[in-house]
Amino acid sequence: MKIGIDKIGFYTPHLYVDMNELAVARNVEPAKFTIGIGQEQMSVAPITQDAVTLAANAALEILDENDKEKIDLVIFGTESGIDHSKSAAVYVHHLLGINPQARSIELKQACYGATAAIQMAKGHIALNPESKVLVLGSDIARYGLNTSGESTQGAGAVAIVISAEPKIMALEDQSAFLTADIMDFWRPTYSDQAYVDGKFSNEQYIAFFSKVWEAYKEKTGHSIEDFEAICYHLPYTKMGLKALRTILDEGSEADKERLLANYEISKTYNKNVGNIYTGALYLSLLSLLEQKEDLKEGSRIGLFSYGSGAVGEFFTGILQPDFKAHLNVESHSNLFASRKEVSVGKYEEIFQESLPVDGSRIELDIDKDPATICLSGMADHMRLYVNKER
Ligand code: COA
Repeated sequence: MKIGIDKIGFYTPHLYVDMNELAVARNVEPAKFTIGIGQEQMSVAPITQDAVTLAANAALEILDENDKEKIDLVIFGTESGIDHSKSAAVYVHHLLGINPQARSIELKQACYGATAAIQMAKGHIALNPESKVLVLGSDIARYGLNTSGESTQGAGAVAIVISAEPKIMALEDQSAFLTADIMDFWRPTYSDQAYVDGKFSNEQYIAFFSKVWEAYKEKTGHSIEDFEAICYHLPYTKMGLKALRTILDEGSEADKERLLANYEISKTYNKNVGNIYTGALYLSLLSLLEQKEDLKEGSRIGLFSYGSGAVGEFFTGILQPDFKAHLNVESHSNLFASRKEVSVGKYEEIFQESLPVDGSRIELDIDKDPATICLSGMADHMRLYVNKER
């Protein structure tokens, strides 16, 4: 039985900052951000969007009534959780009207959360081939104003339906994974901003990639020539390129050219959104699937997932017949086209807005936010959500 990605949706907030403008405001040469880091635009989440609403908006575009009936497991990978106890998945389950006879949980391991969710989903479908699993990867990357991580912030979510006989990509069974206890990036429970040892996290990302790539090749006998493309977790788009370059000499000139050209395409959405943590790898996969015109069914795509702290995994999928017909290229093109640029000053203002923590009531202006699902306010320490279509 084939198991894999049946549908994939994406959402990013309607506001963004131009990285050239951010560079000027931070007294940095724009080329550092656009070439050195590889980012062009950075999505900015208004106060009416959080990890829950971003994920719900991403899922909204892909789920039909049949999916809502068949989904019996919702797994939410995030490191921007809004509650230490209640899972973000339960909110999304309600906002989208999914079958009540479902399990809804949240998973955490930095940017690896959605990959863990996909692997769990695969096991679930193997035991329950008639059911479907909704996997969500949703985050708002916050390092703080004027920090070295600021240029690698971003906001957005991916939503993936995992099923038997998937229409987009069948996941292969062999994969290589690794855990090591390191402090390259973390966010204590009392902080709304991440702490990071940037250079160390870059080094560890490459070291993890190298180890799981070697382990994968040993397990499977595959080599670089077996891959049409390799997609990477992209905290910023230069990062994956650094990792890819470490293995290019294993292939022929044609392999190098193909993998580098496909890497360029696989960063298309990420360079205009920024880091979305758990969803970043899948946003890169989506860029490749939607933006590479001559991508062929039967191609093997490699996926490298990395979550600081750290867990890494290399796994693969095979593109399915007619997979292009099951993508939402036009809706994503409209999503990007309808975004509004904000000045650095406005972004700083939005960044510093916060919700009450004393239980007082606040009503947010959701008319300013074009998203269908929004955070409309808070009362008695509870977040209040609205699906404008229901
Ligand atoms: N033109 C072109 N490139 C330039 C440049 C210019 N004018 N000025 C600098 N650069 C290049 C640097 O050479 C460097 O490239 P390299 O990494 O290929 O050597 C790149 O821009 C970044 O410069 P650097 O001085 O290393 O940036 P930084 O100290 O501000 O930090 C990060 C960069 C990524 C470490 C930082 O943004 C960060 O901590 N981000 C969050 C953590 C993260 O994303 N980790 C990734 C693993 S999960």
